Amino acid sequence: MAIRKIVEIGDEKLRKQCKTVEKFDLRLRILLKDMADTMYKANGVGLAAPQVGILKRIVVVDIGDGLIEMINPEIIHTEGEQTGPEGCLSVPGRSGVVTRPNIVTVRYQDRNGDEYEATAEEFLARAFCHEIDHLNGTLYVDKMDREILPGDPEYGSSDEDEEEEE
Ligand code: NI
Repeated sequence: MAIRKIVEIGDEKLRKQCKTVEKFDLRLRILLKDMADTMYKANGVGLAAPQVGILKRIVVVDIGDGLIEMINPEIIHTEGEQTGPEGCLSVPGRSGVVTRPNIVTVRYQDRNGDEYEATAEEFLARAFCHEIDHLNGTLYVDKMDREILPGDPEYGSSDEDEEEEE
């Protein structure tokens, strides 16, 4: 198990276009394991490779229903809209209100290079959108409606409730 250092906002690596993964090898499997370990250690619900300084199109997500690994993910369909709170492990101590599609379908590859499609709604759809944005150098702060401050009347105090970060 290897915990990698999480890159924080201000670092150029978070602003790059990530490269397509072409080799489904041992190196990829080690990175996936490290990314999952790093996400769990930080109590996050998602992590994208650029957040550990690797500019490749790889994300891991676990909103409590098990680990999902997605290589070269692409959003191929969206439906509806949801507005809610969002945080990011690369933007520590902050959160914001972000509007996202309510349903998304993602085409991706697994660690063996096999292709899949997954349709998600609500919080999982939000997590997919957030992580895939990371692969294109976009952070939630770029598209948030507003910052959530302590004592926010709508989303409560972020001091008491552990924010879910991605
Ligand atoms: Ni994030």
